[in-house]
Amino acid sequence: MKGIIIAGGAGTRLRPLTYTRPKPLIPVVNRPFLEYQVALLKRHGIDEIIFATNYMADKIQGHFGDGTRFGVSMKYAIEDKPLGTAGAIKNAQNVAGGTDTLVVLNGDVLTDFDLTAIVRFHQEKNALVTLTLKEVPSPSPYGVIITDDNGRVQEFREPSEAQKKALAANPNPELTGEVDYINAGIYIMQPEALLSVPAGRPVSVERETYPRFLAEGAPVYAVSQNGFWLDIGQAEQYRQATEAILSRKISVEVPGQWQSAGYWAEDGAEVDPTAHLAPTVHVGRRARIGAGTSVTGKTVIGPHCVVGANVTLQDCILEDGVVIGDGVTLTGVILDDGVKVESDCVVTGSAVFASGSLLAKGTRITMENMASE
Ligand code: GDD
Ligand code: MG
Repeated sequence: MKGIIIAGGAGTRLRPLTYTRPKPLIPVVNRPFLEYQVALLKRHGIDEIIFATNYMADKIQGHFGDGTRFGVSMKYAIEDKPLGTAGAIKNAQNVAGGTDTLVVLNGDVLTDFDLTAIVRFHQEKNALVTLTLKEVPSPSPYGVIITDDNGRVQEFREPSEAQKKALAANPNPELTGEVDYINAGIYIMQPEALLSVPAGRPVSVERETYPRFLAEGAPVYAVSQNGFWLDIGQAEQYRQATEAILSRKISVEVPGQWQSAGYWAEDGAEVDPTAHLAPTVHVGRRARIGAGTSVTGKTVIGPHCVVGANVTLQDCILEDGVVIGDGVTLTGVILDDGVKVESDCVVTGSAVFASGSLLAKGTRITMENMASE
């Protein structure tokens, strides 16, 4: 078996974080997101992985190299122009070679689903393709799948991009009280499934290939899973992913070491003994935290950050090299690489500050006054 991770696209819904890096490299609890997917595949015995991408592929290759450091073999299938989901999978299979069954992951899904159980189901059904289902409240911005009692897929309903945008933009949709079984973006595929995917133009598995298989009566099955599942397409879900790892809602290894003082930290982190850090706080490599500072909620301090004295941080994500002056209070914000917050600033709300931003001494921002500006 070989693993394919598809992650093309510019990650526009996660801007500004994706201006400087592709979505798979966004750090979640101080590890590039893609490392969790690689670890999941490895945990289920899949150690040959092909990564299908286009946007900033060189950065991904720079991080993972040939995969040795992560205990896997990693290859890259790079598209000059996005080939669509089916085109990307086919392109990756060409790079992989061979006739292995493929385990395909959408590159923006954080999950601890039991891939071994899904593969077993696929083999038992002798399926051409097996999809994985997650139960979510209806309506949702995801592909909805209808199966018969035997798990055979009858219908695949992928919302249009406009419908997805409208659903995703509405934080409080009016729920119908029903549930949907949605496509979780994890497929087990026989290599022959890709033979009929046309070359030379973008092709979507969701909109074209799967509906065609269903029309032809091909054995396409789907199996439901109960573990943790999250598509990290937007800033809000990026926060949820962080929260899920730090509060152990998902079974993944938390990076770094648990400290006797009661928080997570990585090598070279220096925390003043008078600082108070909650058990759901993670401090990155060589970060420094000053005297009397309080860090609570699900907060991640990135590597090389410098947090001053008497600072209050709650539910914040600080990326690499953020500098926070004395007496600052931040609640709920995300600060990208190298953001500088001078002393006595107060920022409350779900703002994301782009890499290199500067907040001058004493700045006060709440989401209310940002919205009215
Ligand atoms: N390499 C490559 N090339 N990857 C692509 C391309 C492409 O042309 N197009 C999309 N992808 C990758 C994206 O980077 C992402 O990892 C994955 O395919 C899914 O694309 P999204 O743009 O994130 O789609 P979505 O989240 O709206 O919907 C998809 O995922 C849902 C579950 O998260 C669909 O598969 C839905 O059916 C599904 O419910
Ligand atoms: Mg997605």
